[in-house]
Formats: sequence, C-alpha cells, structure tokens
Amino acid sequence: MSVGSNSVRMARPAPPKELQAYLDDRTAAINHALDHFLPPARTKPATIHQAMRYSLFAGGKRIRPALCLAAAEACGGSQDTAMPLACAIECIHTYSLIHDDLPAMDDDDYRRGKLTNHKVFGEGIAILAGDALLTEAFDIAAQSQGSPGYSQQTMLRELTKAAGSSQLIAGQVADLEGEGKSVSARQLKYIHERKTSALLCCAVRLGGMSADCTAGQLAALTSFGYNVGLAFQVIDDILDLTQTSARLGKTAGKDRAAKKATYPAIVGLDHSRRIARRLTNRAYEALVGFKGKAAALEALARYLLERDR
Ligand code: IPE
Ligand code: IPE
Ligand code: MG
Ligand code: MG
Ligand code: MG
Repeated sequence: MSVGSNSVRMARPAPPKELQAYLDDRTAAINHALDHFLPPARTKPATIHQAMRYSLFAGGKRIRPALCLAAAEACGGSQDTAMPLACAIECIHTYSLIHDDLPAMDDDDYRRGKLTNHKVFGEGIAILAGDALLTEAFDIAAQSQGSPGYSQQTMLRELTKAAGSSQLIAGQVADLEGEGKSVSARQLKYIHERKTSALLCCAVRLGGMSADCTAGQLAALTSFGYNVGLAFQVIDDILDLTQTSARLGKTAGKDRAAKKATYPAIVGLDHSRRIARRLTNRAYEALVGFKGKAAALEALARYLLERDR
C-alpha cells in the first residue's frame, strides 16, 4: 500500500471558507513558532533533530494547538501568550504518535501522509525522537508566563498530568491491553478519555488559563474539551473504517486488523456516529456563556465532527 496512490478521490466536505482561512492562519503561526522553539535540523547530533522535525512538520492538522489558541481568544487573551503552551501540546501529541506507530505498539508504516518515523530513521532513533519531543515540550511550556490567576507551575503540572501515567499513557496502556479482548463500552470510554480526550482538554484549558479565565470559563472550557476530545476519538475510529489510507495519510482498516477496541466494533457505525454527534452537542452547550466570543471553538468542534481525515 502506498499512501497517495490508487485512491478514489472523494468529494471532500471542506470546512467553511471562514474556518479554512482561520485554520490556515493559525497553522502558519503555529508552524512558525514551532520552528523557532525546536533546535535547527543541523544541530548536533543532526540525526535526532532531523527525526524530531520530520514528524513535527510532516503535515499534522494542528487541531490541539488551534484549540488552545481559540480558547485563549474566547477568554479575551492573546495568541502570543498562549503560543508556547500550544506548541508544547503539539510536541507531546507528535511524540505520542511516533511511539504509537512503533512495531511494539500499533506497528504503522504511514503517518501524516509520509512513512512513519521508525520506517525512515529506524526504531532506536524513533524512540529517541519521541523522548526528545516530550522533553522539549516542557522546555517550551516553561517559556510561557503565568497569568494572575494561574501560575506557570499550575499550568506545567496540568500538562504533566494530561501526558502522564494516569491519563494519556494510561489510555495507551489500556488500548494495548484491550487488543483482541472483549472490551465493554465503559472500558472503551476509559481508554478514549485518557488516550485522546485528556490532552485535547488540556489544550483548551491551558488556552483559557493563559488568558486568565474566570473559574466559570474554565469549567465551561473543561466540559467543551472533554466532550470534543471524546468525539474526536470516536470519529478517528469511524474514519479508520470508512476512509481511504490516502485520505487519512495513515493506513486505514488497521483497527479491525489489530482487533482494537473501538466504538464501531462495539456499538456499530451508526450508533458511533450518533454518539459523536451527542458529544459534540454537549460541547456546544458548554459554550453558551461565552455569548459568541467562542465562535471559533464552536466552528472547530463542528469541523472535527464532520471531518474526513
Ligand atoms: C491522531 O490525531 C491520533 C489520535 C488521537 C486519534 P490527529 O488526527 O490530530 O493527528 P494529526 O496531528 O492531524 O496527524
Ligand atoms: C492514538 O490513538 C492515541 C495516541 C497516540 C495517544 P490511535 O492509535 O487510534 O491513533 P491513530 O489512528 O494511530 O492515529
Ligand atoms: Mg494506538
Ligand atoms: Mg495508532
Ligand atoms: Mg485510530
């Protein structure tokens, strides 16, 4: 299989023009900031810096940092203040994908439309590139400033918790341990809350904190991030079944082949779609108090529900 070839070009429900322009603008700013934060590719040892940059700039959707910036905006904050936190989140996300793709985990050959890190650099360097991106993330986050209501320490601990052994890592552990087993809907929710929703929710919360949000705003952002995060993984599970590898930029159909616990496998495709819609509706409801200032967050949630990659 080769990503990018032999695929039927599907009519693509493109994001509305305004949202596309918004995403393009934020992606450019995020990429510029990431390039500034990361050591140049020629920095010795060049192999590791090339490997880190290979995956980081392979063409990810930049959803988590975009949500972080949009949450800051909803609370009256600035993009510049939230940017180190947004970039730290994207580094952690990219590290988690490099490791997720390793032969010892999901064993994937393609990611973001390109060969996976271990296919290009070998397993040893891919493990180290993931380690280095995770470490670098905390150096970048440490370049953020606290806001009057939230110290830098509070924000760093928030990030550590979301990425750590009781959240993202716990989800990945349960995901691996669930392979080939009959997993209940409740256990599946446990996996999705941790492997995906925790970091996505953290992105939204940190955006709000960087803007010195009120306690009420933080509660609303938490509910929004939690629900969008869960919906995001339900849709990821659906797309694995319904999309082409070319469209996804990663090999489709892997979940069934690996006997992964997924929503379509447990409750079927139609019910999975209903669940994703219900979760997204809950996310919209959480934004009511922002009275229009969270239009970008709402548009992002809709785009994530309707996405095809
Ligand atoms: C993929 O995340 C991994 C999941 C948590 C489902 P994304 O779909 O956001 O991947 P990129 O960043 O766009 O490559
Ligand atoms: C990945 O979930 C979650 C993390 C990397 C934390 P998946 O294994 O479903 O993601 P894809 O489908 O490989 O992108
Ligand atoms: Mg996985
Ligand atoms: Mg995977
Ligand atoms: Mg998946």
